[in-house]
Amino acid sequence: MAISDLIADLKSRESIEAYWDFRKNDKREHVHSMIKYPAVMVPNMQGEMFDLVLKHDPDIHNVLDPFMGSGTILVEGLARRLNVIGIDINPLSYLTVLSKMQKYAKSTLLVKSEQLLRRIDLLRDKSIENFCFDGITKWYVPSVIQDLSKIRICILQEPDLKYRKLFWVTFAEIAKQADNARTSTFKLHIKLEETIRDTDYDCLQSFRKKLTSNVNAVLEFKRLRQYETERLYCGDARAILRDRRRFAENSVDLVITSPPYGDNATTITYGQYSVLPLRWIPLGDIHEAISLETVASLSKIDRDSLGGINYPLETLTQSGILNTSSELKHFFELLLSEKMTEKARKVASFILDFSEVIKNLAPIIKPGKLLVFTVGNRHVHKMELPLHLILKELAEYYGMDMRYDFRRNIIKNKNYVDTSVQGFKTINKETIMILQKR
Ligand SMILES: C[S@@+](CC[C@H](N)C(=O)[O-])C[C@H]1O[C@@H](n2cnc3c(N)ncnc32)[C@H](O)[C@@H]1O
Repeated sequence: MAISDLIADLKSRESIEAYWDFRKNDKREHVHSMIKYPAVMVPNMQGEMFDLVLKHDPDIHNVLDPFMGSGTILVEGLARRLNVIGIDINPLSYLTVLSKMQKYAKSTLLVKSEQLLRRIDLLRDKSIENFCFDGITKWYVPSVIQDLSKIRICILQEPDLKYRKLFWVTFAEIAKQADNARTSTFKLHIKLEETIRDTDYDCLQSFRKKLTSNVNAVLEFKRLRQYETERLYCGDARAILRDRRRFAENSVDLVITSPPYGDNATTITYGQYSVLPLRWIPLGDIHEAISLETVASLSKIDRDSLGGINYPLETLTQSGILNTSSELKHFFELLLSEKMTEKARKVASFILDFSEVIKNLAPIIKPGKLLVFTVGNRHVHKMELPLHLILKELAEYYGMDMRYDFRRNIIKNKNYVDTSVQGFKTINKETIMILQKR
């Protein structure tokens, strides 16, 4: 593979102002629009990266995204005839990506969704027993609870799990739109009472519309792919990548991913964003290994995610992480010198977890093959945390070299609010890093 040709191609594009911003080309086509998910990538932008990498190395048959989120990379990978492998710790991500990738029989799908909508219609003017979970009356108004209970019961009557999964994803989107949480943040903050009182959300109608568009989306996507396979895992990337029954050494041709910016609690709470819809859905319908405990508290998924545990100073120093990255060490010491011990621990804890993923990625990628990371630098105590430089050092430590990087503007990232600092509210730039295994 001629990496110098790839770099030359990237440089020629960079010379065109704002080329990678994809301001006018940020459409979310077919399955990309099935459900909203925090911090999604721009499909066409990542698609072009794919095309450039494949042009310079046609010998790529699979792609791995260890933080698959809503599956932007994997969908683009399948559309380019690659086998795809994805991991995410958030059950909503897993359900979403699986539903996008399952192979549906067109006629069965059309019949089953029509039958579901008919069952819901029959219940429209009837009153049924409400579904219930802890906190339901805080997060939903009574009319919404009744309507979602009706849709839920009708979905449960579908005997085929494959189709139920698609119905649940559609349901999740409606349950998210209909909750009483503020839309200005991914955290679960309750809306003002007067705003809740004024809410008049027609769940049944919205579900009908969304299901119709999701059915069209999966059918359109079906036409774009052939016999490629998908392997999806719901769980912690740190452990899953280490499992040799799942990932043989030197078996992955390409990694493309966008990791979280930092620990979920102080950056993007993917878990809190997803937990209310998940409380409605029987978890066994998503994956047999997901326990009720996952959704019992609002913050469990976030605590299980990278950086979710704030390690003691001792653990951090003994782990050796500060010696793996001089950039991290410098940032950590700056925070300590400002008496920001908690923040220093949080930053280093996230990087320690993140480094586990980098370490476990290294042996499974084939020598000479590429890893493309899209990373955002957040601010901690008014200082930019150089995640891209820390990643470069971690990668080098584990046998992967940085070959090229460039920055792009993030046009739509309204909902990421960095609460730690005024004036730096959103991350509006990200770095694309091309790494290569030695
Ligand atoms: C930036 S998002 C990925 C978004 C994705 N690129 C897209 O376009 O939808 C990061 C993802 O990392 C996941 N994540 C966080 N910690 C994880 C872990 N330990 N193992 C696997 N996934 C994790 C989050 O749940 C989230 O979905």
